[in-house]
Amino acid sequence: MLYHIPALLKESIDGLNLKPGGIYVDVTFGGGGHSMEILNRLKNVKLVAFDQDDDAAANAPADDRILFLDQNFRFLKNNLHFNGIESIDGLIADLGVSFHQFDEPARGFTFRQDAPLDMRMNKSATITAARLLNTMDEHSLADLFYNYGELINSRRIAKEIVASRSVKPLATVNDIIDAVGRLAPHRQEHKFYAKLFQGLRIAVNHEIDFLKEMLEQALDVLKPGGRLVIITYHSLEDRVVKNFMRTGNFDGVEDKDFYGNVQTPFRIITRKGITPDAEELAANKRARSARLRVAEKI
Ligand SMILES: C[S@@+](CC[C@H](N)C(=O)[O-])C[C@H]1O[C@@H](n2cnc3c(N)ncnc32)[C@H](O)[C@@H]1O
Repeated sequence: MLYHIPALLKESIDGLNLKPGGIYVDVTFGGGGHSMEILNRLKNVKLVAFDQDDDAAANAPADDRILFLDQNFRFLKNNLHFNGIESIDGLIADLGVSFHQFDEPARGFTFRQDAPLDMRMNKSATITAARLLNTMDEHSLADLFYNYGELINSRRIAKEIVASRSVKPLATVNDIIDAVGRLAPHRQEHKFYAKLFQGLRIAVNHEIDFLKEMLEQALDVLKPGGRLVIITYHSLEDRVVKNFMRTGNFDGVEDKDFYGNVQTPFRIITRKGITPDAEELAANKRARSARLRVAEKI
């Protein structure tokens, strides 16, 4: 089975501005598409790859230039330090889930097939989607679907979930579809379920919090002139990345000096972000929501 097709491959690796002898980090190794492109383009390079899903380890090539770490990227700095690396020339993150994770029904990431409500990228993490759905209070569930799923009827969704679990705990994809299916707008059922599952997945994997932790550490370890290259797949994570690159903080609040000049740790390379062209979308429609942003540390 195909593990993954990398999105915006050429544009993202161009964005790293590779330099011979450089040290680069791919914090979302997955099927290794972006990592392999780095290794193919540059003979003299050191690459550190992270993935919290141990399935990804099997994709790591037997190549002295790469060090694969079966770790969450929220521990970026500690892991680099542990391996004797204090500064890097570039970092790439291709966020979200791989095709492999999404297409494996047992992982519970898709609403298209019945499976246990799992959704953990790290299979040894303790909190599954079922656990969240059965234990969170109604108010917090509504916040989860509103903030992470961007669903406007989040209060009714939470109410239905709480009613359903009081009869029988939610355990499978079909259980949640049965619980909230009647709230899905007519002819927009798939969009509704996609948002519902996106919200749950983000919460199960703490995606926004861990992204922020990683970005702050990336800023610390990047050398001046080093590149930060991030591919996002939905507006929530894109906003985090955009604000951070523009202002160095997550609220996007500009810090100005005495003369009114904006103080920012980055020079923006891609002002609006880069999205896949028609040719890429024809070959890989799953790349449709990808957006690449590149910034250089000043
Ligand atoms: C979209 S895939 C990356 C695909 C990869 N660029 C390729 O070309 O095959 C995202 C990967 O990042 C991993 N991932 C997501 N969040 C992570 C985190 N906080 N720490 C480590 N790995 C993470 C997932 O397990 C998944 O394998």
